[in-house]
Amino acid sequence: MVGFSLCRSDEIVEGQARGFDPEQRGRDSIFALRHDGQIRIYRNSCPHLDVRLEYRKDRFMSADGQLIMCYAHGAQFLPATGECIYGPCLGERLQAVQWWEEGGWVVLDTTQIESPLPRAREG
Ligand code: FES
Repeated sequence: MVGFSLCRSDEIVEGQARGFDPEQRGRDSIFALRHDGQIRIYRNSCPHLDVRLEYRKDRFMSADGQLIMCYAHGAQFLPATGECIYGPCLGERLQAVQWWEEGGWVVLDTTQIESPLPRAREG
C-alpha cells in the first residue's frame, strides 16, 4: 500500500491538534489530534456547512483540549469519534481519515488524498 508520511507521531501532543495540507492547496484539509493517548485524524470540514473548523492555524480544540470546535457556529465534537454533541449538526460526524504508524511516523493511505504527493513512499 502506498503511504503518505504526514508527520512524526510524537509531534501530535495530547489535547492539541495540528492541521495539514497534504494536497498542497494552500489550506489545511485534514487535522490530527491526540486524545487519551490516541491519535485521530479527521477531514477539516464541518458537517454543518462544509467549512473549515479552525479559527486560526491549528486552533481546532476547545481551550481545555477536551473537544473539537467549529468556530463558525460553535459546534462541538468528541475527539474520539468525531460525533457532534452540540450545535447545528448535532449527531452528525466529522469524516475520519485512516492512517497507520510506521517507524514513528503517521502515514496516510494515499487513496484518501489527492496528488501532489511530495513525501509518498511505498509501505
Ligand atoms: S459550519 Fe460548523 S457549526 Fe456551522
